[in-house]
Amino acid sequence: MNVPEMVPARATQLPYFREIPLYAKVGEERFTLYKPAGMTISEMRIGTERLPSPLYISRSDKLKGLQETQEAFNKNLRSQVASGETEAIKTTVISIVEETLLEPRSGGLEGLSETVDILIGDYAKESNVVKNLIDLSGTDYSSTIHSINVMALSLRYAFSTSMSAKETKTLGLSALLHDTGKSKLPPSILQAPRRLTDEEFRLMQTHCTEGYDIITNCSFNDHRIALVALEHHEKRDGTGYPVGKKNCDTLSEIVAIIDCYEAITTDERPYRNAMIPLEALYLLKKEVENGKYRRKFFEAFAYSLTRDL
Ligand SMILES: [Fe+2]
Ligand SMILES: [Fe+2]
Repeated sequence: MNVPEMVPARATQLPYFREIPLYAKVGEERFTLYKPAGMTISEMRIGTERLPSPLYISRSDKLKGLQETQEAFNKNLRSQVASGETEAIKTTVISIVEETLLEPRSGGLEGLSETVDILIGDYAKESNVVKNLIDLSGTDYSSTIHSINVMALSLRYAFSTSMSAKETKTLGLSALLHDTGKSKLPPSILQAPRRLTDEEFRLMQTHCTEGYDIITNCSFNDHRIALVALEHHEKRDGTGYPVGKKNCDTLSEIVAIIDCYEAITTDERPYRNAMIPLEALYLLKKEVENGKYRRKFFEAFAYSLTRDL
């Protein structure tokens, strides 16, 4: 068997592989079948502590492996939502988003569509799932947590403004995927414990077009999901990036406000402290007065935060 065809499987995905065969390395360029297709590791009755590490999968199975993982997570999420297991819901949502955004691509991102569906389903609404998802703990703040928070706040906005179910889902998915392009940036920029240099900031700005390209290649049925990734750093007075566009899609304008609010109310950067919600709203209001954001979206967002939905 050819070595370059094999890649280490992600340990977090291993329990969910059923149709994906797993291989163990037995020599410099030799692999042996460890788990055949058609069963999971637990069905082989092998404790995870005894697994060879790492196990390998064929490179061509990577996407299918992610899809199997997503299916399992979405299935778990559905039952956790039905039984109102708040903490388990958070853990599952973080896991599925983390696995998906690690290497975002066509065929993978689409799995999150079902996740959003579950989160806005009837059961979820009854048990306030979205409300409980907001403010995920800031101790291990990451792009994943940021994206989930922006999604949860956006869904709250959608419920508060009585958007249709279809529009709610599109807004939620757009929010969840708005920073998809960040996966292309080096960790040295994403986790820089200081302000970025001009050159680093220029590179950071490419996450908008990168995200747009990735999402455009996916089979979502609404082009606005890609547009939000492209436009969420634009400002109405043309001072935003990547191009200084003044008239953006409505969903982009909404996500832009929520994205900014989420970033300044959490300890995203070690060199600055998180603002309390009221301070953040005050700052955003100033931005509205300076022509950066549209007043009606800001007001609707501020209102959605105070409403008990
Ligand atoms: Fe962004
Ligand atoms: Fe963001």
